[in-house]
Formats: sequence, C-alpha cells, structure tokens
Amino acid sequence: MQQYNFKYFFLKYKKRYLLGVVWLALVDILQLLIPQILRLFTDDLQDGLLDGAGLVRYAVFIILVATGTALFRFLWRLYINGTARKLERDLRNDLYHHLQKLSPNYFQHQKTGDLMAHATNDINAIRRATGPGVVMLADAIMLTIATISILIFTIDIRLTLMALIPLPFISLVSVRFGKIIHRKFKKVQEAFSDLSDKAQENFSGIRVVKAFAREKKEIARFETSNKENFLRNVNLIKTWGLFRPLVRFFSGLSFLVVIWYGGRLVILQTISLGDFVAFISYLGMLTWPMMALGFVINIIQRGRASLDRINEIFAEEPEIYNFPETDYDITELEGKITFENLTFSYPKEEKAVLEDISLSIEAGKTVAFLGRTGSGKSTIARLLLRMYNTEPEQIFLDDTDIRHVPLEVVRQEMAYVPQDNFLFSTTIAENIAFHDPETPRAEIEQAAREACVYDNIMDFPHGFDTILGERGVTLSGGQQQRVALARALIKRPKILMLDDSLSAVDTKTEEKILQNLETIMKDRTTILIAHRISTLKNADIIYVLDEGKIIERGIHDTLLENKGLYHDIYQKQLLEEKLEDS
Ligand SMILES: Nc1ncnc2c1ncn2[C@@H]1O[C@H](COP(=O)(O)OP(=O)(O)OP(=O)(O)O)[C@@H](O)[C@H]1O
Ligand SMILES: [Mg+2]
Repeated sequence: MQQYNFKYFFLKYKKRYLLGVVWLALVDILQLLIPQILRLFTDDLQDGLLDGAGLVRYAVFIILVATGTALFRFLWRLYINGTARKLERDLRNDLYHHLQKLSPNYFQHQKTGDLMAHATNDINAIRRATGPGVVMLADAIMLTIATISILIFTIDIRLTLMALIPLPFISLVSVRFGKIIHRKFKKVQEAFSDLSDKAQENFSGIRVVKAFAREKKEIARFETSNKENFLRNVNLIKTWGLFRPLVRFFSGLSFLVVIWYGGRLVILQTISLGDFVAFISYLGMLTWPMMALGFVINIIQRGRASLDRINEIFAEEPEIYNFPETDYDITELEGKITFENLTFSYPKEEKAVLEDISLSIEAGKTVAFLGRTGSGKSTIARLLLRMYNTEPEQIFLDDTDIRHVPLEVVRQEMAYVPQDNFLFSTTIAENIAFHDPETPRAEIEQAAREACVYDNIMDFPHGFDTILGERGVTLSGGQQQRVALARALIKRPKILMLDDSLSAVDTKTEEKILQNLETIMKDRTTILIAHRISTLKNADIIYVLDEGKIIERGIHDTLLENKGLYHDIYQKQLLEEKLEDS
C-alpha cells in the first residue's frame, strides 16, 4: 500500500531542495547587505567623506547586489518551486495510476466531482506546502535570526528588544487571517464552481429547457448564483482589506518605538545616524518574515490535511486483481461458460440480485437472456467480465473458476457492448479501434460494415475521422449502438456480450446485424441480452429471468408452448407491432 508523507517528498529531491535553500540564503545575505551599505553611505555622507568616485563606488556596489539578488531569486524559484511542481506531477501520475486499478465498484460509490477535487485542490495544497511553504519557512527563519543578530550585535541590544515587541503580533494576525481568508476563498471557489456547473448543465440541457419553456426561471436561477458569487467575493475583499492595515499597524508600532527611543540614542550620540538608518531599514525587512511565519503554519496544516485525504485514496485496495491461485498457463479461452448455483448481491447491498442460477453454455453457442427491467441481466454480463468478484466455484470459464483465470485473459477474450454505450470524444475510427489504436483502417471499416453502420459513417463529411462530441452527441441513439457494436466486433472475441445493444436499431437492420453475427461468431460464444423477442428468437437457448431467478429456459418454440412469461411478453410485442403497422 502506497502512503506518502512530507519526509518522503523532501528526501526524493533532497539535492534540489538543499541547493534551493542555499540560493535562498544567498538572496538573504545580499538583502542584509543593503542596510549596511546605507549605513556606511549615510555615515560617510555625514562625515563629508564622499566624493564623486566614492558615489560611483556605492552605485556599482548596489548594482552588483541587485544583480546577484535577481540571479539567486531566479535560482531558488527554479529549485524549490520547480521541484514542488515535479512532486506534484509525480503524485498526480501515481494517483491516476492507482485510480485506474480500482474496481468499478469504487467509482460507483465516489462522486466524480470529489475525485476531481482531490486531483486538483488537494494536490495543489500539497504542492504549496512543498514549494512556497518551504521557501517561506526557510526564509522566515534565516531572515529573522540574521536580522535580529545583526541588530543586537552591530547596533543596540535594548533598542532591538523594544522594537521587536510588536512584531510577533504580525505572525498571530497572519495565522488568524490566513485561516479566515482561506475559508472565505473556498466559499468563493464553491460559489464559482456552482455558477459554472449551473451554466454548463443548462447549456447541455438547452433542448429540455426550451421544450419546457423554462428560460426565464433558468435566468433567475443563474442570477441568484451569480449574486452569491459576487457577495462572497466582496466578503473576501473586506477581510483582505482589514488584514493589510492590521499588519501595518503592528509594524508601525515598532517604528514608533524606534523613532522615539532610537532618535534619543542618536541625539545622545550613543548610535550614529547611519546606525539609525540601517536599523529602520532592517526593521522594515522583518515585517515579511513575521507574516510568512503565520502563513506557513496554515500552508503546512492544509498540506497535511490534503495529504491525509490523498493517502486515504491510496489506501483503497483494488478488489479485482489476479488472486494467488491464478493459473497463468491460461492464455486464451474456448468460450465455454458455466454457472453453478450463482447467487450474487452487490457489495454493501443485502438483497440478492441473482439467485441460484445454474446453467452451462457450450463454446460457440448463442444464448439469450430475456427479462423485465431490473431482473439481473446486465449483472450477469458484469460478472462474466469480472467487474465484481463472485464466490468461489460459481462461475467457470472453460471449466476453470473465473477467479483463477488471469484477469487480462478474461478481458481480452470477451467483448462487451454495454447498455449505456459510452463513446469517447475522439474520432469514430479511434472509438472503433479502442482495443488497439494500431488497427489498420481496413479492419475498422470492415467492423463498421458488419455492425451495419458503415453507410451512416460515410455520410458524415469527415467519415471515420468525424469527431464525436461529449458522449457522442452527433450520433443518433441507434448509430451510437452500432459504433459500440463495431468496437466489440473488431476484437473478434471468443465471447461476445450484447447488452440490449440493438434496442434503438430498427428491426430490419437488426436482422441484418444478427445475420452478420452468425457468420462472425460461428465458433464463438454469443450472449444476447434483450427486451425484444425479435433480437433473440433464434438463439440456441433462451433464459427468462425474473427477479434474479431463471424461471423458464428453452428455445423460442418451446417457450411459446409453455405459455409463461416469455409467451406473455411475445404476445404483448406482437400486439405492439401490429398497432405500429396499422
Ligand atoms: N452497481 C450496483 N449496485 C447496487 N445495485 C445494483 C447495481 N447495479 C444494479 N443494481 C441492482 O441490481 C438489480 C439488477 O440490475 P441489472 O442492471 O442487472 O438489471 P437488468 O436486468 O439489466 O435491467 P434493465 O433491463 O433495465 O437493463 C436492480 O435491482 C438494480 O437496482
Ligand atoms: Mg441492464
């Protein structure tokens, strides 16, 4: 089980982090030189020691310091923030890799939005802790210690101590405000994503909106969302507006102390005017580390919380994998399927959706499952694909328990046309050749012909290169089904499962497709799941499912003679057909 912590991150790129901190230290040293230059300059100026050459010398010095600062700043950004980006990239890849291994059941119980939030917000928070967080922490510590030491040792200890008193309040204020600002910022983000979700959903459902004449109400709904977004933004601005003045107030207090007490020291000539100028300048440099200290506490806290959440996902074990008993000698399947007293309920559900199913399908046969909606037909297909684990000795493929057949073999030897035929937003050709992008175009076209969708595709201006929109919106329902069918046929599977895959195809085309299947699937096993009798009446055997149980089995003619559910459904469909025809 992969689990992450910050130590792992820092060790992974420790050289880069160490170098980054070195660059940071160099910037700080250069920064700290500036007040010293000012101090010498002021003292020289006051003592009348400066001539033209001296001025030039100071100018060159300042330019050198500024150039060095710029260079080292560039380097620490590259080394620390750049490394945090590397970590972000690695972590995101690991997460995606891990998520791809999890079973469909996991995704069933997770909201896609939540997963996306983990992948963006949480990883972002971790990056901020490992990048800017490190910079702020290192910078704050180095700058604070160095500045205070310089003040104490080179100027005046009592003045330093007095001037420091108000500064910790800056840290406190920034911790507190950091939290509030973050909370409000999140609210802004939520409001904004709500707003964009509403708009997006509305645009995709625009036909429904228009059909129900809901435009006005939708506009009102949008305006409410938009107003909420605005109010939350204003709320955030107000907090920011308070934060800056408060920080200024406390650093102002420090300056007050210096002007009052330091000014006296200058008058009494305990310290020089140059010391005084340098002091003020150093003091100004302390505001930032004090703020940073406050921020960094929040950044680290948030990073940790996000890391915990990400670790929770990494702790999810894939449920479906090759068990130790897997027989790796199996590299292909003949196509025989056996169920022995198969009873199944979905994980975390009590009710059995399949009950005591026993049947045997010889390789090369065509079998069909018929049944009312919710009777468990699709579940059978999912179990055969091993989307879910069954108990031992319930499903056999070629007489081997499906639990011991290598998962790759199961998935490679079967092809499945799901009921909700999902197509990807790419070209039709890529959708059909999904199993292997290298498939030659001729094979893709052949599969399209077999699925009786070739002519439809060729009618599009871009033919097979037509890009499908979200969920294939440019295709009709029946066209989608047939593209999904072509995607399965091109695999030349040993076991083909069509889950209600011809429901949106007219009966003539359906007949044509079934004829094609007969040739293609001659020595292969075909499983037809359907509501329509016309789809499955020629099957070698038909099973009628009702509430998870097989209540009838046989060929079309015997089932009709039985006068059971099959017969009822058949009569009903005959009647419907007649009504349509008349
Ligand atoms: N992932 C799931 N988790 C829990 N229960 C599920 C899940 N999928 C399906 N079910 C339940 O299992 C039962 C059988 O569902 P299944 O999808 O197999 O029916 P079906 O026969 O294919 O129906 P349809 O003809 O409408 O496609 C239903 O009661 C359904 O609510
Ligand atoms: Mg179904």
